Amino acid sequence: MPDRLVVFTPSGKRGQFPDGTTLLDAARKLGADLDSVCGGRGICGRCQIEVATGQFPKHGIESRAEAITPWNRVEQRYADIRGALKSGRRLGCQAHLEGNVVIDIPAESQVHRQVVRKAADTRPITLDPVVTLHYVEVAEPDMHDPSSDFRRLADALRNEWGIADARAENAVLATLQKTLRAGQLKVTAAVRHGRDIVGLWPGLVDRIFGIAVDIGSTTVAAHLADLTTGETLASAGVMNPQIRFGEDLMSRVSYAMLNPGGDREMTAVIREAVAALVAEVAAEAKIDPDRIVEIVAVGNPIMHHLYLGLDPVELGGAPFALTVDQALDTSARDLGVVGASGAVVHTLPLVAGHVGADAAGMILAEAPYAGEDITLLVDVGTNAEIVLGNRHRLLACSSPTGPAFEGAQISSGQRAAPGAIERLRIDPLTLEPRYRIIGSDLWSDEPGFDAAAVVTGICGSGIIEAVAELFLAGIVTADGVIDGALALRSPRIVPEGRTFTYVIREGEPRIAITQADIRAIQLAKAALYAGIRLLMDHYPVDRVDRIVLAGAFGSHIDVKYAMVLGLIPDCPLAHVRSAGNAAGTGARIALLNLASRAEIAEVVRSIVKIETALEPRFQEHFVAAMAIPHKTDSFPNLAEAVTLPVRAATASSERRRRRGG
Ligand code: FES
Repeated sequence: MPDRLVVFTPSGKRGQFPDGTTLLDAARKLGADLDSVCGGRGICGRCQIEVATGQFPKHGIESRAEAITPWNRVEQRYADIRGALKSGRRLGCQAHLEGNVVIDIPAESQVHRQVVRKAADTRPITLDPVVTLHYVEVAEPDMHDPSSDFRRLADALRNEWGIADARAENAVLATLQKTLRAGQLKVTAAVRHGRDIVGLWPGLVDRIFGIAVDIGSTTVAAHLADLTTGETLASAGVMNPQIRFGEDLMSRVSYAMLNPGGDREMTAVIREAVAALVAEVAAEAKIDPDRIVEIVAVGNPIMHHLYLGLDPVELGGAPFALTVDQALDTSARDLGVVGASGAVVHTLPLVAGHVGADAAGMILAEAPYAGEDITLLVDVGTNAEIVLGNRHRLLACSSPTGPAFEGAQISSGQRAAPGAIERLRIDPLTLEPRYRIIGSDLWSDEPGFDAAAVVTGICGSGIIEAVAELFLAGIVTADGVIDGALALRSPRIVPEGRTFTYVIREGEPRIAITQADIRAIQLAKAALYAGIRLLMDHYPVDRVDRIVLAGAFGSHIDVKYAMVLGLIPDCPLAHVRSAGNAAGTGARIALLNLASRAEIAEVVRSIVKIETALEPRFQEHFVAAMAIPHKTDSFPNLAEAVTLPVRAATASSERRRRRGG
């Protein structure tokens, strides 16, 4: 039989095969990335290909549709049952070589297709999940060869798919015989890591699902993805029910310390919440939860420990010892999640006692380790997680920013919810404010605002803008003091005790920024900036090339105002970005791409952890960072974008210099 040349695009893989070879076989032998669930039986439709016709001088061939065998009965049966193939498409397992040919493998038929992410400057994810599907026809039981049902299933997986030594846990074995009978010995197995059977269904199953979960101390979010396409099908979020045991992380650890069994209570409620979210996204996507085979969860160290049922008490004080820091696989059933019988919850590794698997997710999503740019990643929460560096070196620390950025401890503060002021501008001449609230597109000075909107308070991003605008308008000095002298110019500035308050809105509720509010924001932002400076000292660098703000707060914040206030160091504004839920994105990457798990594990091991509490320079940086934007650090890039008030200190020293003092 003559050999035929076949070239697969887009991989460019090429080789010679005898006449009559199926394109699926040729593609498999060449590693040309052609999918298959049914093993070439013509029932899954995952092996679809197209003949690229025309002259291909590069390969020295003319490729014609006639170079493969004509449409056959199996293809017709597939088309009759599952719907017609797109014009020009063929089933690669049914088409045999009859001539030299160039074959195009469309994206949907590629095993390792690229999943494009939303942000243009992020890398696409290569689909390569830890769990794969394999349809097999298991041999009939035979009186003369009394091997077990599992043995015959494992044999079929080995013979048809090359899966050596398949294993299954009791939960899978418990349903094995029923499933085999229901499928008349034709079943689809979901195989994890090429070895562990985690799901088994009668007949052909060609879709399985995974879920990325981000367990935050305030909210828990879940995203359901189709593991065969990489597509996100449903997302849902819920407040973390542990809030009733304590608003912030440390109060939850205290609850565990003071109440015997308190940690178990918190473990139970978070497991329930995650299980309910999993059920919710499955219902929203209209899929059977039984097809959920893998869950990747991230969270800060305390959330991570509580979810897995590990004691969080050591994380309440120095030296913040983790029980375990590596990635773990836990049975989903043990965590109360309803999924495939052998579904697994994979948790990403933790960086340090204060820098968790959520930071690992953020690092995976933003990949600072892949480039030369000095990248600063900040997850702004009650305990900010900070990562700095590039492919040569990564450093991480956490900084206790407190809850001010979430609107707590602020007189008119509230969580980000409809009715909260999220944008605010102050006219530098009249000192009058205008603002926008969550849930309305109108600014407060636009007609119809009052009728359409109920203002309830001010959220974290609104406070950042308010304080930054107060500074830009000259109402607040670089030291963070509301200038009482301006009370003569504006009725918005009113004395309250020994300090002054800026009133955004009179009435019910009255919304104002007090001197104490500004102090709270200064303390929070100084803690954050000091942590960042500490990492910059350790690297050492005196500037960063790009900044990514992550987390719920980070995604709402206007990066320009974050810089005006001095939350983050100077950087070209075009290189500062809000990444939304980067930890959740990292979990999604780990869900869809197996190699990324080893990648992040290695990166996390290499990260240099800095303990802010032990650093003598932290206090020094903290004091300097209390000023707005900063006492000594300059912000040349920011100054190009915004007219910053002349620094009082700088102005007076300039006057002294002129006087010759
Ligand atoms: Fe399943 Fe071709 S491999 S239809």
